[in-house]
Amino acid sequence: MSRFGSDPRRRRGLVRGVGVAVLALATCGAVTGPVAAAPKPPDKQPTAIGSGGAVATVDPDATQAGIDVLRRGGNAVDAAVAAAAALGVTEPYSAGIGGGGFFVYYDARTRRVHTIDGRETAPAAMQSDTFAPGGVPIPFPEAVTSGLSVGVPGTPATWERALRLWGSLSLSQALRPAITVAQRGFVVDATFRQQTADNAARFADFPASRALFLPGGQPPAVGTVLRNPDLAATYRLIGQRGTGVFYDGEIGTDLVKTVHAPPVDPAATRVVRPGLMTEADLAAYRAIDRAPTRVGYRGLDVFGMAPPSSGGSTVGEALNILERSDLGSLDRTQALHRYLEASGLAFADRNRYVGDPDRVNVPLAQLLSEGFAGERACLISPTSTVARPIAPGSPDGAHAPCPPAATAARDAGREGLSTTHLTTADRWGNVVAYTLTIEQTGGSGITVPGRGFLLNNELTDFNFTDTQGGNDPNLPAPGKRPRSSMAPTIVLRHGKPILAVGSPGGATIITTVLQTLVNRLDLGMTLPEAIAAARASERNGAATQAEPAFPTAGLAALGHTFAPVAEIGAVTGVEALGHGRWLAAAEPVRRGGGSAKVVRP
Ligand code: GLY
Repeated sequence: MSRFGSDPRRRRGLVRGVGVAVLALATCGAVTGPVAAAPKPPDKQPTAIGSGGAVATVDPDATQAGIDVLRRGGNAVDAAVAAAAALGVTEPYSAGIGGGGFFVYYDARTRRVHTIDGRETAPAAMQSDTFAPGGVPIPFPEAVTSGLSVGVPGTPATWERALRLWGSLSLSQALRPAITVAQRGFVVDATFRQQTADNAARFADFPASRALFLPGGQPPAVGTVLRNPDLAATYRLIGQRGTGVFYDGEIGTDLVKTVHAPPVDPAATRVVRPGLMTEADLAAYRAIDRAPTRVGYRGLDVFGMAPPSSGGSTVGEALNILERSDLGSLDRTQALHRYLEASGLAFADRNRYVGDPDRVNVPLAQLLSEGFAGERACLISPTSTVARPIAPGSPDGAHAPCPPAATAARDAGREGLSTTHLTTADRWGNVVAYTLTIEQTGGSGITVPGRGFLLNNELTDFNFTDTQGGNDPNLPAPGKRPRSSMAPTIVLRHGKPILAVGSPGGATIITTVLQTLVNRLDLGMTLPEAIAAARASERNGAATQAEPAFPTAGLAALGHTFAPVAEIGAVTGVEALGHGRWLAAAEPVRRGGGSAKVVRP
């Protein structure tokens, strides 16, 4: 206990713990269907206002887990880990201990923002041509559902590190609410059923995934209860023995065995390539403390995640470009035009320059400099679009006045729908923005037999071949972390948090976070309005993706090209209202809508 010193905020959580009882249900494998004392899903609303702390996630059980921790004296970090662990049960296709993520934390005592890079890592045997032997990329679906794309998971190490540095609960205490949900079960909703159905063909090919997610051979019906006692046992073991049992113990042994020889049904015809991960790769994994990115924006400080995520650098560069226009005074078409142009420019630079900073030289300070933003901003015209694809700029510190626009090869990046974001705040003013993932919805599709969790396919976030004329910063390499787009973001005014947001959505995460910030900070929307507003995602690709309600007509007249897409992102966030009050807000509709709660409404 001594490592927490005498900070009462921390002691309180330890003394009182998390009083959620673990139900002793006799179970042997995942089952669905009505069970005795079937759980009722907690109430779900997308917005809540009150005091004592706040939690917003995509899922009511996860939000409730976080709120229960706050109610019992835990802090925002404890609540974030508890909610994330619950998401591993109820959102297993988006996040879990088989994946990774980025944890951004505002510490109210020091008024500083810290981050943990819990990104998955390539095994030591990975080479630049692993996904493209002889220069020919393997079919993308074959890379997704394979052992080859499984990176060393970072999520357990992230939870342990966050709790050790800033939490008040032990890992065992923080996992307790999730163990309860896994053991007792959760009520299947339409989104879960649909995501299961979308994955049914590949889950069916892996007996462990089939048994867990396709009870009776079918996606579970809406309203039935899905339990995951294997995951409850896995969490219990990690809680009792620490993450060593995962990285250097029996869970790790099972994980590596599964990656090496994916347990495919012998009757399946699917090509499932074995992976390269070894027990030494697992044992070598570290969650890394990294300095956050920071840009000033209209008198605020916007903190984000540094590389290997491109979230902080790309959102930050685009904000620096946008700050040169008074968006609030422009008509809506001009404001959105500038948002799309800034996003396209920042993506051109992201694609060319951002990768794992421990393996490639990322000119981060220059990408986030005002001089570079000025150079990029002067390419924007009010009457037309910069010709696509936009060439990357030169973040070399020698800022030229308005260089001529050039064009480059397209590299839109894959968007994906998976990943999840949660945001927590506590009564002391600490805030967490945490985005985590297993990459594709359903990850690799491969469940570790007997352990109850899916493995990621995060290494498909590498480029398979050089997209940048010999300068691709995101090719695979031994021990390298693939570039991410995750963008957990915390905004401060005079050193105090006013807003924290994030989203799932692959490369669209960046544009979703950027657009939400612009909506809230420039365009006069409330946070719930900013989250709900129709989105467009411009990533220097063939066309700008746009949701049906996004106002495209005036923008098309300026030269923007749009491709329709049903939905983009699913933001959660919190906003400080002053005097200890918080607004918690979650996506109201997309992906079935999320859940926002406060401790004292
Ligand atoms: N796997 C999604 C991302 O890292 O951006």
